Parts: sequence; C-alpha cells; structure tokens
Amino acid sequence: MGKTLRIQPITRIEGHARITIQLDDTGNVSDTQFSVLELRGFEKFCIGKPVEEMPRITTRICGVCPWSHHNASAKTTDAVFGVEPASAGRKLRELCNSIAFMEEHILHFYFLAGADFILGPDADYSVRNVFGILAAAPDLARRVVKVRHLAAHMLEIIAGKAIHPAAAVPGGFSKPLLEEERQELRKMADECFELAKFSMSFAKEDLFPKYLDVVNSLGVFDTGFLGTVKEDGSLDLYDGKLRMMTADGAYEDFSVEQYTDYISEHVEPWTYLKFPYMKKAGEFSMDLDNPNGIYRTNTLARMNVVDKIDTPLAQAELEEFREKFGRPAQQTLLFHWARLIELLHNAENAIRLLEDPEITSTDIRKKVEPRAARGVASVEAPRGTLIHDYETDENGLVTNVNLIVGTTHNNAPMNMSVKKAAIDLIKDGKYDEGILNRVEMMIRAHDPCLSCATHRLDGKLGVKLDIVDSEGTILDTYTT
Ligand code: NI
Ligand code: MG
Repeated sequence: MGKTLRIQPITRIEGHARITIQLDDTGNVSDTQFSVLELRGFEKFCIGKPVEEMPRITTRICGVCPWSHHNASAKTTDAVFGVEPASAGRKLRELCNSIAFMEEHILHFYFLAGADFILGPDADYSVRNVFGILAAAPDLARRVVKVRHLAAHMLEIIAGKAIHPAAAVPGGFSKPLLEEERQELRKMADECFELAKFSMSFAKEDLFPKYLDVVNSLGVFDTGFLGTVKEDGSLDLYDGKLRMMTADGAYEDFSVEQYTDYISEHVEPWTYLKFPYMKKAGEFSMDLDNPNGIYRTNTLARMNVVDKIDTPLAQAELEEFREKFGRPAQQTLLFHWARLIELLHNAENAIRLLEDPEITSTDIRKKVEPRAARGVASVEAPRGTLIHDYETDENGLVTNVNLIVGTTHNNAPMNMSVKKAAIDLIKDGKYDEGILNRVEMMIRAHDPCLSCATHRLDGKLGVKLDIVDSEGTILDTYTT
C-alpha cells in the first residue's frame, strides 16, 4: 500500500501551508502538493471604499510586506487619478521601498532560511532555528537584530511608522524629509551598507561553498522569469516595465497595464493560492516532464531578467553570479544568493537617494480629483512582482480590485520544486527528518508570504472539507 507524508506546518515562512507527499507501493514519490490553508479576501472587501483609502487599507494585508502594498497601492491610485506624483514624493516612496527591502531580506536570510545553512540542513530541528543561530553565532545575531531595528527606525523617521504606514498618498508623499533627519538617516544607511557587504562576503566565503553541491542538485528545473527593469534594462525595484523571460533566455517587455495580455491564472481545488502562468504559452502545466507557461518571480528572477544593476557593488556581484551560473540561472536555492545581491543594491540605492538634494524638497504631493477610471501599477516586492489593479466610479469609490502578489506568481514553481526535491530524495520508502527539511527548503528559498497571496473566493475557487476520524482516515468529503 502507498503512504502519505504530511509536512504541516511548514516552518520559517510567513503564513500557513502544508506539503503532502504521496508514496506509491514501492515507496517512491507518485505525487506532491503544496497547499495554502488560509484565505484573506482583500479583493472583495475593498469594494465600495474611497480609492484614496487603498494605500492605507492594503498595508493591512500583511505585517511583513506593508511597504510593498503601500507603494504599489499609492502608485495605483496615481494611475486612477491620472496624476504623475511629485518627483520628491516619488523618491521618498522609493527610499522607503529600499529600506523595507533591506529589513525583509535580512530577516529572511538570517532568521528564516539562514538556519538551514548556518547550522546545516541536517542539524536537529530543535536547533535549526533563530535560537540555534543565537547560540552558534551570538555576535552576528546581535548585529542582525540591531540593523533590522535600525531599518525599522529609518522608516519611522521618514514615514511616521515602520509597519502599516500611511505616508504615501495619491499624488506623492504626505511628509517632507527634514535636513537634520536626512543627516541622521545617512549615518544609519552606512550601518546597513556595512552589514550588506558583510553578508555578501560571509555567504560567499563561509556558507555557499559548503553547500554548492546541494544548490546545484536540489530542485533544479527550467522555468521562465518575471521582473521589472528600467528603460535601459537595469534593475528597478520601484518602477519600470515588466520583463517576461522564457527558459531559453529570450524575453519580451511590456507595461504593467498589459498584464492580462501576458499573465493568466489557473485554479486548483486543493489550495487557496492561484497559479499564474504565461498566457502566450496557451495551456498551463506544472507537470515536471512537460511544464508549460511556468515562470518565477522574486530575487532569482530579477537577477535573471535584468541586463545590469546601476549601483557598482551589486553590479560586480551580478557579473560574478552570471559567470558562475549563467543567464538564466535555474537552481532554486540561488534565490538566497540573489537576495544578498539585492540587499547590497538596496543599501547602495538608499545612500544614493539620501544624497540626492531633491530628497528634502517640500514639493512632495500633487492635488488629485476623483473620477471614474481604472488604474494598474506594480512594484517589485521582496517576494516578487506585485500588481495592484483598481477600478472606480465617478465618486472615486472602488468597484473592482485585482491583486497579483509575488508569492502567487511562484505558486506553480513552488509546487514543482517540492515535487522535484521529493522525487530525487525519497527512494524506496526511505526518508528522514533531514530529507523532509530539504523539501521544505524548496519553499523557503522562494520566501513566500501566504498572507499576502490569497484573496479571492468568486465561485472559481472552492472549499474542500474532509471529515476525518481520530486516525486521520477520511470518512467523507464535501466540495463547494
Ligand atoms: Ni506579505
Ligand atoms: Mg488576484
């Protein structure tokens, strides 16, 4: 008889999910599922709200990614009102975006994924966590906590608060940056920059070399990639055109307003997370032997789609990364390496913005008037391309909302990487805790945020209710 393995909860990610691995009679993997078990539903209950409230409401989707939603939403309201935001206001938004990126990348690298590398994938699970890192490397842990706190404090200085901000408004930003604040922030940015440089060399010298065989063998399969680039093809995390690259490295650029021409969404009954795929591929398939339309977002995708990075240290790292792994690089665990290149870029970018004389301008906001319109905008969130799409009536009240979140784009590849790793590692019914952790590492590499990613129940997505006895045997199943 076959056997079902369940990993639940998946640890060290944001949100609630389960991995199911089905073994056949011979103990080999016949199927796997990565199921998301929560539903947030913001797309529905934002309807009827004044659109200028959206940058404040959508930050509540998630306490980890509020700045990504805040900026994406503010940009979408600019589009709805038909206004170009004031230049200094736009720069303040971008500065906050870069600081939030640093905070989140540091959190993920050291506290969520880091334990798998600092303590090793086979370390006992009782120490394979943040407390294990505290015990193994107390000075490093202290420094990481300090810089995360610093980044949060920087956001407080600029925007009034670090989590669930309200400072970005339609047409720009609500609070100018004072010169004395700028000077204080500039010093803090240096400390972030030092940690970014340290993290990159620490990982390249002490961590990654030990695990290069794992990186090159675990969950490797070909997909396309989606990210944002400036007009000149360089990395842009706040604004730009979208670039969809196929697995062979060919790509097409498009504006975010055209996203429905390039992205379709597939639905499966066993998860609340949709499956976006390349519309031009036709049919969706995440069958490992015959995938179709699959692409990834997030750090690895961005390092693959960009032609260059316009800050010097990150550019040098990108060149080295490309020389080692090619373009596009397909190894799932390289999301971590790419994350550190971005950490460096954001530190450089924050310093650049804090040295821009316009950053302390008081001309930060343009006036807006309500109208019936549709607005679509995107940012790169730490977890991938984040698209907000709103429609309003003539009073400026929201009549339709669609959100496509970084994590959602990565749903099919997360499922595929789990399956690939499980097939490769579990043979003849033999597995242990270290093997199951390697399967979980596939999900962690993508740094999913599941709170951010599940929003719609519109008849296309059903609820499946299993009634089980005390042994876990399914007695009956209802589906809506
Ligand atoms: Ni989130
Ligand atoms: Mg959606």
